[in-house]
Amino acid sequence: MQQTSPKSAEAQAGDHVTLIDHATGRQFDLPVLEGTDGPKVIDIRRLYRDTGYFTYDPGFTSTASCDSRLTFIDGEVGILRHHGYSIEDLAANARFVEVCYLLLHGELPNKKELDEFDHHITYHTMLHEQLNYFYRGFRRDAHPMAIMVAVVGALSAFYHDSTDITDPYQRMVATHRLIAKMPTIAAMAYKYSVGQPFVYPRNDLDYAENFLRMTFAVPCEEYVVKPAVARAMNRILVLHADHEQNASTATVRIAGSSAANPFACVAAGIASLWGPAHGGANEAVLNMLMQIGSKDRISEFIKRAKDKNDPFRLMGFGHRVYKNYDPRAAVLRESCHEVLNDLGVADEPLLDLAMELERIAREDEYFVERKLFPNVDFYSGITLKAMGFPTSMFTVLFALARSVGWVAQWKEMIEDPDQRIGRPRQLYLGETARTYVPLSERG
Ligand code: ACO
Repeated sequence: MQQTSPKSAEAQAGDHVTLIDHATGRQFDLPVLEGTDGPKVIDIRRLYRDTGYFTYDPGFTSTASCDSRLTFIDGEVGILRHHGYSIEDLAANARFVEVCYLLLHGELPNKKELDEFDHHITYHTMLHEQLNYFYRGFRRDAHPMAIMVAVVGALSAFYHDSTDITDPYQRMVATHRLIAKMPTIAAMAYKYSVGQPFVYPRNDLDYAENFLRMTFAVPCEEYVVKPAVARAMNRILVLHADHEQNASTATVRIAGSSAANPFACVAAGIASLWGPAHGGANEAVLNMLMQIGSKDRISEFIKRAKDKNDPFRLMGFGHRVYKNYDPRAAVLRESCHEVLNDLGVADEPLLDLAMELERIAREDEYFVERKLFPNVDFYSGITLKAMGFPTSMFTVLFALARSVGWVAQWKEMIEDPDQRIGRPRQLYLGETARTYVPLSERG
């Protein structure tokens, strides 16, 4: 059962697994593919055609939906790498824009490439002025994520010269536009929610600095970006840039697989990220810490998290892939202290509370047995709060950073010769065929 695509040949491990259908006694060999790292995969693409069976895997716990070169995660050990570079290395050394280049091109840029890329990104930072009207249509108290979904989706109506996805140049312009405009869109969502005038981008500033200025500057006084805050912002952006096939990225890929407009696909990703089981957890963590309030109430909440009849879960704990410490959470845990020191925050009760909650949970048999560790959202909110962001902006910041991952994965998918429309199958449990009953005869 050989596959025809060259990529499959590249990934062939040479071995196979045998499926025995005990009902018929028939036997099928399924090829095994091997990536450059991570578990081997059983290639079931021809399974239905050859056997008449589907596979059943709600939540895709055992299913690779694509092949990719961007990001590698070993959740058992707690490893995250982009094109081979560890997240710790990138978070310590790289500017976010370098990581964007890395995700889009597969290599870190040299000086000339980075200058050019910086130019492309800054060139597209402004929004079409008519997009401002979208903001004005929202209630003042609208959640900024609601605004993000709408405005990013609306980009699809404004930039027709970057949406012929069959043209490599237009695809690249679309990726530049998205990365460049996201900080402007996010900062404007914040400004609208607090009733302050929009602040236009300044292209002489670095990506993180420009975003901070658009968020926090007001026209009536000079705003100087604090280097400590800019460093922390850059690190948060780097840590959230991509995370292989998570719910929002898989959403972007599946939306894009029908050849839909890239900005509309990213809006779908933002919608998926918003949920508290995904990116919305950073906001939920802070709300949870404030609800717990003091260390003496931790045990009450731990008890609730373990109670299957209580919907409460420990937010910022657990991960589908990491069965060890999320390496991004480890970086943030450290940098949280640094940021607070740099900002002169001598005492942050929420950080003390979070650390104590982590300590108690990690000694608790329930969490140990299930390998539930803090994820990236556990410590990000405390850092963002210290930087001056309101909780409602936390998931927006995640979306801002993840946009590069979404658009890089979208581009990889569109450029994949094996790409087909995403169309899962199902295990049907509804009624079998029956005949229409006229209303007068229904009991
Ligand atoms: N608190 C209490 N129990 C938990 C938690 C938690 N935070 N997370 C998982 N569990 C329990 C489950 O109840 C389940 O227990 P069981 O085996 O007795 O039924 C077991 O651990 C396995 O959890 P699943 O829900 O099957 O794991 P899944 O991979 O489907 O979910 C998820 C992962 C959604 C992240 C989950 O751990 C969760 O809801 N965590 C809290 C929300 C959160 O922090 N989300 C952010 C994720 S990171 C990100 O998206 C950036």
